[in-house]
Amino acid sequence: MQPLDVIVGFLMVWVFVIVLMVVTSIFLRAPFVPTPMKITKKMVAFADLKGDEVVYDLGAGDGRLLIESKKAHPGITAKGFELSPPVYVWGLFLIWKSGVKVGLHMRNMFHQNVSDADCIFLYLMPGAMKTLQKKFEKELKPGTKVISHAFKFPGREPVKSMPVPWLQGEKDLRLYIW
Ligand SMILES: C[S@@+](CC[C@H](N)C(=O)[O-])C[C@H]1O[C@@H](n2cnc3c(N)ncnc32)[C@H](O)[C@@H]1O
Repeated sequence: MQPLDVIVGFLMVWVFVIVLMVVTSIFLRAPFVPTPMKITKKMVAFADLKGDEVVYDLGAGDGRLLIESKKAHPGITAKGFELSPPVYVWGLFLIWKSGVKVGLHMRNMFHQNVSDADCIFLYLMPGAMKTLQKKFEKELKPGTKVISHAFKFPGREPVKSMPVPWLQGEKDLRLYIW
């Protein structure tokens, strides 16, 4: 086999995996669009973690928010839920590569009890935010922080917002305290 064949084969597998990630996420209520790394670090700083919290990412994608949180605060418990199989497998690989302990589970976030959460990261779509708001009203303990990238909870005011650059303009990170 020629080196060129190996490169072409590798590229074809890579394109196939990306197409698979996009296609599977079309059927979910939020597609796989990872938070850019610069914004990931800003989100973790915005969460102002103390270091011993239980931290969730619902719709965790490739686990990057949890990996960065765990690197910055090794004492936290980091748990993520991701429903798309190829995204989940990619996330497991990145967690393994990072060397930090993050629990990523292939599970529907709407069916996951999150009453032990101290902090929850979200980057979803308006419909999912509405459904999660109802779930959080029933489950979250008072004082739980919820940090949302770009999307708002309907009828609930954030305690703090922070603009982050996006394309030619900007969008907001929002901190809600339940
Ligand atoms: C916009 S991405 C955000 C990924 C990650 N949180 C980040 O900020 O980089 C949303 C993710 O939610 C996942 N997702 C959508 N519906 C879901 C569900 N019901 N349960 C678990 N994951 C879901 C999608 O597969 C996608 O990877």
